[in-house]
Amino acid sequence: MSNIDALKKEIVETVKAANDINSLEEVRVSALGKKGKVTGLMAGLGQMTPDQRKEMGQALNRLKDEITAEIEARANTLKSAALNERLQKEKVDVTLSPRPQAKGTIHPISQTIEEMTVIFADMGFSVAEGPEIEDDFHNFTALNFPPGHPARQMHDTFYFPDVAGKTGLDAKRLLRTHTSTVQVHVMQTQKPPIRVIIPGRTYRSDYDMTHTPMFHQMEGLLIDKTAHMGHLKGCLIEFCRRFFEVDDLKARFRPSFFPFTEPSAEMDIGCSRAGGELKIGEGNDWLEILGCGMVHPNVLKSCGIDPNEYQGFAFGMGIERVAMLKYGIPDLRTFFESDLRWLKHYGFGPMEQPNPALS
Ligand code: DAH
Repeated sequence: MSNIDALKKEIVETVKAANDINSLEEVRVSALGKKGKVTGLMAGLGQMTPDQRKEMGQALNRLKDEITAEIEARANTLKSAALNERLQKEKVDVTLSPRPQAKGTIHPISQTIEEMTVIFADMGFSVAEGPEIEDDFHNFTALNFPPGHPARQMHDTFYFPDVAGKTGLDAKRLLRTHTSTVQVHVMQTQKPPIRVIIPGRTYRSDYDMTHTPMFHQMEGLLIDKTAHMGHLKGCLIEFCRRFFEVDDLKARFRPSFFPFTEPSAEMDIGCSRAGGELKIGEGNDWLEILGCGMVHPNVLKSCGIDPNEYQGFAFGMGIERVAMLKYGIPDLRTFFESDLRWLKHYGFGPMEQPNPALS
């Protein structure tokens, strides 16, 4: 056997022994690479006589072609073996029925609560919750509504039958008419400084384009020794600017009345109603957005907090209302109709960030 045949046999054996693409590449380099065995022999052609060179040159070229073909064949075998192995591993059961595409969306109320919470959390507020079934004390008395106060009727309250064995206001149980009840729970159980927001369901017997018997409110309460009306205004203006994503949103505070705050105010934000279309942050019109005020000393007293030492502010707003304004939802009732087309249109993807532009 000539040297060339011996070399071919040796190289072909190593090609066949290569078990993966990487070792095959090593074999190729050791034969045909710059410093490879075949390449080395070719470099020797220069020293040969023309006849020898011709014969040897042809033989070496043939060797090179044969080895290249062997390597290619081996590479194909290895690739299809790897593919088969993958196909074996990655089985798909074609008899399984297909999974329906996820249809769920985040309800605009959940999304809005999340967005509001993110903004208030940045200002140091934490979330508090309380019961939806309340007694008279938490819904009215502790919040400075005197017995017989017209607000008790004005609220169109859903009352339960009187509690057996109790009389008068003590016997009353009701669905809370506002989240202000949770102010009372928080002040009864936490020591100031207090900084909470309270999202939750509230109930009033009312039903039209702008009223549903159940709706949501976001309450806020801050109690410390120095908080004043300036802090209240700064906090709420900052909130509205971030929530509606209008940096220079105009705001004004009008005197108002709530039994549980003194002074009380309603906050308006700037808007335009040109052409019947509401645009927040534009024009010279005003839109009422929330109620607020400094917590009444009687409320602090009812909750066991000394009004000579502590003071603070509170606010409350309708969550559906701000969601309708932000997302252009025209009818409040549609929030609770569970119409899948509505949910698909106004709902949010599970991965959507609250207030992406601002966080
Ligand atoms: N509880 C009021 C309502 O349901 C809203 C409200 C107004 C809450 C002023 C407050 C406040 O905390 O300070 O209409």
